[in-house]
Amino acid sequence: MNCNIVRKILVAGSLLIFTSATAQDSNRWTSTEQREMFAAKVKGYEDCKQCHKFSVQSWEKTKHYKSLESLNLDQDGSASAIMQAMELTGSPVSQASCAQCHFTDKTSDSINQFTNKKFGPVSGVSCESCHGPASDWLELHNKKDLNEIKEKFSTLKTDKQKSEYLKNVHLKSVNDKVPGDFSAWRNKMTEKSGMIRPDMTYKLINNCYECHTIGNKDLINKTAELDNPHAAGSEFEIVSWLSGEVRHNFQGTDPDNPVNKKMSIEEKRYLYVSGKILFTEHALKALSLAEFPKNEDDEPSRFYDEMKSRVEIGLSEIIEINEILESAVPELKVLSENITPVTEKIGEDLLKKADLSTSNFSGKTLVGYLKIMNREFLKNRHNHAALSKLDETLNDLEPQGNSYK
Ligand code: HEC
Ligand code: HEC
Ligand code: HEC
Ligand code: HEC
Repeated sequence: MNCNIVRKILVAGSLLIFTSATAQDSNRWTSTEQREMFAAKVKGYEDCKQCHKFSVQSWEKTKHYKSLESLNLDQDGSASAIMQAMELTGSPVSQASCAQCHFTDKTSDSINQFTNKKFGPVSGVSCESCHGPASDWLELHNKKDLNEIKEKFSTLKTDKQKSEYLKNVHLKSVNDKVPGDFSAWRNKMTEKSGMIRPDMTYKLINNCYECHTIGNKDLINKTAELDNPHAAGSEFEIVSWLSGEVRHNFQGTDPDNPVNKKMSIEEKRYLYVSGKILFTEHALKALSLAEFPKNEDDEPSRFYDEMKSRVEIGLSEIIEINEILESAVPELKVLSENITPVTEKIGEDLLKKADLSTSNFSGKTLVGYLKIMNREFLKNRHNHAALSKLDETLNDLEPQGNSYK
């Protein structure tokens, strides 16, 4: 076939993935085209430092920040062993299959030292890996009202600066009115431009599971025989993993004496439950990519085993939460009833690949159903007094790593 045609089909295919990925709340790219689109919108953490000094300082102490250096230096040789098992050459930092979870790419005028292209990794997992690439929302996200926009506009000299600025604050002219409340409009516009704000709970923490569940089959299977195989996923629990080294809640505190605020118990309850459902959603998504054993003698792959066990853990934890809550939270009660047969099937080793693609759950696949029920649960967050029965469990959770300040 003509190369151009093949290319066009590939591009069309990846655009399709992109649209559906956005609809599915994904902040991760899966093709080269998407990767470049993301990289072109990344500003880089230096652009946040001026106003979020303590967030940046605390982030610089995390494994997220250090990930670029640690894979590049590879002091224990584990990254190069993984590369070799994957039959990849060069630095892991030059590899798309590692960049997706370990680094942040950015486009620049000069050649990137790792990729030899005009885009490539510039830092580890960064602000924009979680809050979304910032070029289309940065200028608007911090504005309090239209006057603040007008004031800044009046300091601009050239027409080019002015039109660029108007584009960045999503206005046609500086005398534009905005419909209704300014901050509601602002939040809507920044969300449309890819910003993931702290109150967008599902989308924000969905990010974590996209990287901390390793849905890359080859990465798990091909490294299975190594002394240090690549993790199939983290033992990720959102309250612990967000309360330790990742915590950076400095907003609204004294800039001379900043306090990194702890999560309230109410917040912990919601995150804990929502996180368990997300854990299961992502494990199921990964399991649906696995090769299922065809008969009893068929040796299951590491990927299949790992993902099946994550699904089993996830489903039974949701059921257990519902038991602790004595079925008092409607969304969890229904969810629990509907997933119990699946859990039994897995326990008896009867789960088939087809079970994951059939739309038996209120017309949805199990993955889609978990997502909907999770969102529903979060939407009703003020109606769930019963969740306090989780407090004993929550108070026993240890933060993952040390927090800053
Ligand atoms: C010029 C100052 C400034 C810069 C630069 C800046 N921010 Fe902000 N940011 C703010 C202010 C002020 C707020 C509080 C806005 C509000 O909600 O009224 C804020 C709020 C936020 C919030 C929380 C929003 C919410 O709903 O609570 C996030 C997340 C954020 N910024 C991320 C970033 C990231 C990431 C960067 C760099 C790419 C960045 N900011 C650069 C000033 C800035
Ligand atoms: C789907 C996301 C994902 C992809 C793709 C991925 N990793 Fe990882 N990697 C992780 C996560 C998450 C951890 C931390 C796991 C844990 O909690 O123990 C990790 C840990 C590691 C570690 C151990 C920690 C360290 O920094 O020394 C190495 C080495 C590593 N990855 C190498 C690679 C290499 C090489 C590639 C590309 C071939 C790659 N990874 C691709 C998500 C990913
Ligand atoms: C873009 C991918 C990505 C996203 C998004 C992401 N992580 Fe990570 N995270 C990683 C990788 C990769 C590592 C391992 C880095 C290493 O060890 O070199 C890691 C490590 C960590 C660690 C350190 C674990 C340890 O070994 O002590 C914590 C804690 C953590 N992540 C929490 C979170 C939380 C909470 C979220 C969501 C709010 C999140 N991560 C989102 C990729 C990601
Ligand atoms: C691993 C994902 C992750 C990374 C990396 C990350 N954030 Fe956040 N950020 C979050 C989450 C999750 C919250 C909400 C925390 C909560 O509600 O307890 C948050 C909250 C915030 C807030 C609001 C804090 C408050 O006090 O209300 C700001 C501002 C912010 N982030 C800015 C940044 C900046 C700047 C960086 C880079 C230096 C960054 N974030 C890196 C996940 C991340």
